[in-house]
Amino acid sequence: MVMVYGFEHIYKQAHKKKKLKAGKMTINFLGKTLKNPMVLASGVLGNNRDILQRVYDSGCALVTMKSIGPFPRDGHNNPTVIDLGHGMINAVGLPTPGYRNMEEEWKELENRNFPLNASIYGGSVEEFEMVAKFVSLKKPDFIEINISCPNSDQHGMIFGVDEKASFKVVSAVKKVIDVPLIVKLTPQALNIGKIAKACENAGADAICAINTAGPGMIIDIESKMPVLAFKTGGLSGPMIKPVAVRCVYDIFKAVSIPVIGLGGISTGKDAVEIIMAGASLVGIGSAVKSRGIEVFSKVNLELKQWLDAHDCTIDDIKGAAHKKQETRNKKQETRNKKQDTGYRIQDTGYRIQDTGNKK
Ligand SMILES: Cc1cc2nc3c(=O)[nH]c(=O)nc-3n(C[C@H](O)[C@H](O)[C@H](O)COP(=O)(O)O)c2cc1C
Repeated sequence: MVMVYGFEHIYKQAHKKKKLKAGKMTINFLGKTLKNPMVLASGVLGNNRDILQRVYDSGCALVTMKSIGPFPRDGHNNPTVIDLGHGMINAVGLPTPGYRNMEEEWKELENRNFPLNASIYGGSVEEFEMVAKFVSLKKPDFIEINISCPNSDQHGMIFGVDEKASFKVVSAVKKVIDVPLIVKLTPQALNIGKIAKACENAGADAICAINTAGPGMIIDIESKMPVLAFKTGGLSGPMIKPVAVRCVYDIFKAVSIPVIGLGGISTGKDAVEIIMAGASLVGIGSAVKSRGIEVFSKVNLELKQWLDAHDCTIDDIKGAAHKKQETRNKKQETRNKKQDTGYRIQDTGYRIQDTGNKK
């Protein structure tokens, strides 16, 4: 058994107990049995069958394709992706051969032995409908609509920040496909819970959150120029995890359909955190770069070790942060009723650090 990320001692302790609750990691997601909760995020590894197969063989249970668009599109000029150490900034710009020019890829994917989530995008409701209808005929296991990409002038994003527009595009797509529909949302929505609810009302079967955050910008101070050719780009990786956790928390509160939690997940503890916010499955994108393609089996193992050490299952911890928050609120209410506490500065555990800057 490979031990990773310092769980050895708790894992050994847990194994002293006779029977561990976590057991198998299989999950039933929209009627499909997945071998574990790990999902490949759209866009980070393309649409080549061999690569997607490798991802599956490396421990990923559900493989998402790079978003497919209505017409051929080159995407933005380089540089398009920059590793910032604590995450990435990218403005790839939704490059796509266009849904009609992928016959070779579809042929290769026909006899696959892994669950496939086909991501699509469009610039209008009609384009979304057109691509979705065609892709549905290729029989992926799920279709994910990307209504949340921040790196294109005219695609997708507009839907994801507006309840009515989200409702419209989801209901239109739902009518023309016969596989379950996942809707991928943006953290840029002012109230992501309301957008998710509109999608659920329009027939979405699941929500995926989040797409990249921002957009952000980095400037090369020597050349005095934005580094990305497109100037701005979406943020991903560890630096956006708190945003993803907050979004999943808000969505879980607002809807009853399952949520794929995604954004900055790279360890088993990250997975535990986003599941506690309400995620049913855990997506991984940028961490493929930092931890390699084995990241899926590593995170799954770390998650299982954590569950074993705490003798619980994924179901036990799903949305757990909501229940705890409710208890906290109730306790606070009772305390407030008993006495007028006024304002208290609480010790949050955070300390102001000495940054070394002395005047
Ligand atoms: C280089 C790159 C390309 C991406 N392309 C897509 C895409 O085509 N469609 C999509 O829905 N999301 C795309 N994303 C967003 C990811 O799927 C994911 O939502 C985001 O990166 C947050 O997850 P992470 O922090 O695990 O990377 C892309 C992200 C990156 C870094």
